[in-house]
Amino acid sequence: MKLLAFAGSSSKQSINKKLATYAAGLFENAEVHILDLNDYELPLFSVDREKLIGQLPIARTFLDKIEQADVLLISVAEHNAGLTAAFKNIYDWASRQKRLVFNNTPLLLMSTSPGKHGGKNALEAAKISLAWYGGNIRATFSLPSFAENFDEETNTISNKEYDAALKQIVADFDYGQKA
Ligand SMILES: Cc1cc2nc3c(=O)[nH]c(=O)nc-3n(C[C@H](O)[C@H](O)[C@H](O)COP(=O)(O)O)c2cc1C
Repeated sequence: MKLLAFAGSSSKQSINKKLATYAAGLFENAEVHILDLNDYELPLFSVDREKLIGQLPIARTFLDKIEQADVLLISVAEHNAGLTAAFKNIYDWASRQKRLVFNNTPLLLMSTSPGKHGGKNALEAAKISLAWYGGNIRATFSLPSFAENFDEETNTISNKEYDAALKQIVADFDYGQKA
């Protein structure tokens, strides 16, 4: 089973990437590939720029990575109660080449932030948006107060309840056919 995980963030120290990496490691028998949005940097999307420069190969590569995966795990970062510009930008470019960007692949959608809401606004925004673009969301998980609940030395969730909840989600995860 090929699992593609990434954070909806371009921060080099992304806490969502740390959470996504930990969660990906909980999937048994998974061949895990962690993607970094920094490797998919594109000019800011606009229809005018698209007319000028056309479809970009990096966006196609991003779509290819998604198409190769049996399971997707995305942990979205929250900027101003929404998705980050970095994630939205590659998503916008990719959607112009293929509407079902997320390919109806079973998806675990996650979020975390330093605050007590754990990036839930971004998670909700992603739920609404991705559902229209091939996001086959099978489960969601949000980790609040990252610094308190995640141990950056061991790269594991330190809060026992949240850790157990995530492990249950992974154990129950429905890998079934694409929608
Ligand atoms: C421009 C900006 C806006 C932010 N807005 C929010 C917010 O609305 N809610 C929140 O919980 N955290 C917010 N944060 C804090 C981020 O959650 C924090 O930077 C976190 O580390 C982002 O995830 P990442 O490390 O995976 O990029 C914001 C950070 C920035 C830089």
